[in-house]
Amino acid sequence: MQKENLHVHLGDLHLRNPTLLAAGIMGLTGASLKRVWDSGAGGVITKSVSKEAREGYSGPRVVETPCGLINSMGLPNPGIESMLEEIKIAKDSGGLVIGSIFGNEVKEFAELAGKIDKVGADAIELNLSCPHAENLSTIGQNPKLTKKVIEACKDSEIPIWVKLPGNTHIPNLIEVAKSAEKAGADAIVLTNTLPAMSIDVTSERPILGNITGGLSGPAIKPIGLRLVYEVYEKVDIPIIGAGGVESGKDMIEYILAGASAVEIGTGIMKRDLDVFKKVCEEASTFLDERKVKDLVGSAHKN
Ligand SMILES: Cc1cc2nc3c(=O)[nH]c(=O)nc-3n(C[C@H](O)[C@H](O)[C@H](O)COP(=O)(O)O)c2cc1C
Repeated sequence: MQKENLHVHLGDLHLRNPTLLAAGIMGLTGASLKRVWDSGAGGVITKSVSKEAREGYSGPRVVETPCGLINSMGLPNPGIESMLEEIKIAKDSGGLVIGSIFGNEVKEFAELAGKIDKVGADAIELNLSCPHAENLSTIGQNPKLTKKVIEACKDSEIPIWVKLPGNTHIPNLIEVAKSAEKAGADAIVLTNTLPAMSIDVTSERPILGNITGGLSGPAIKPIGLRLVYEVYEKVDIPIIGAGGVESGKDMIEYILAGASAVEIGTGIMKRDLDVFKKVCEEASTFLDERKVKDLVGSAHKN
């Protein structure tokens, strides 16, 4: 049952609750997207998809740390044509589906966005921020390039969300966020994983095949919160928080910082697919008579 006080709007898009499946976790097939939707998520985001299929990096590709995961998947995906079929399956199950895309150049983003739009997805998330995939993280650190990519995708009829990197200093991040807003982005997502590594003392070598990867989970929640808080003060479009959400309290913290919704990825490891339902129940109990939308940005009040 979806609690009334958890309904939110991201622009014109209505969400039955503010929890979204984060890109890259269980988002490769229509069946798994449906499973997450059926388990109670307010929306599901596909694995980031490119024009052509990609194998990703050699293993090991994931390592556990005391407070989260480091992954260097390298954006493996089956390519857009195959993913469009999976999105159709997820849509047919009644889910709210967001297609995450990345390209090698501006016109590739536009091409992918057009295809995601036509297949009936509810929104597009532009991944401008994977910390371990060639030049991708640098797009979201560059205000001009970010603007160009968004403008190129704005022919699409559905909302454009922009996922920015957390590993940029605040004045620059604010510039990028403002530039995204000016270019017509409908929401900003903060944050992707943060650059990190792990070393094996026995072999005296880095553990990940790609040497470095991206840190996710509870370790990055305080950083995600700060980024949302800072950006909320400077832009008027909705913000979606990501990083370390595992409980209703985690979600409420992001809402108070200024997020209108949150993405959950690594939290699935801890609480299984029940995480969406549990986060919602815990948040709803905390809110009691209040509505989640009334708390957005409340931590900024004097
Ligand atoms: C294994 C793994 C794969 C990921 N793949 C993607 C991806 O394809 N595209 C993307 O934008 N983010 C990707 N992410 C980042 C997540 O979407 C999310 O931003 C990040 O993990 C922080 O949220 P969390 O702490 O709830 O996991 C990935 C994260 C993990 C752990």
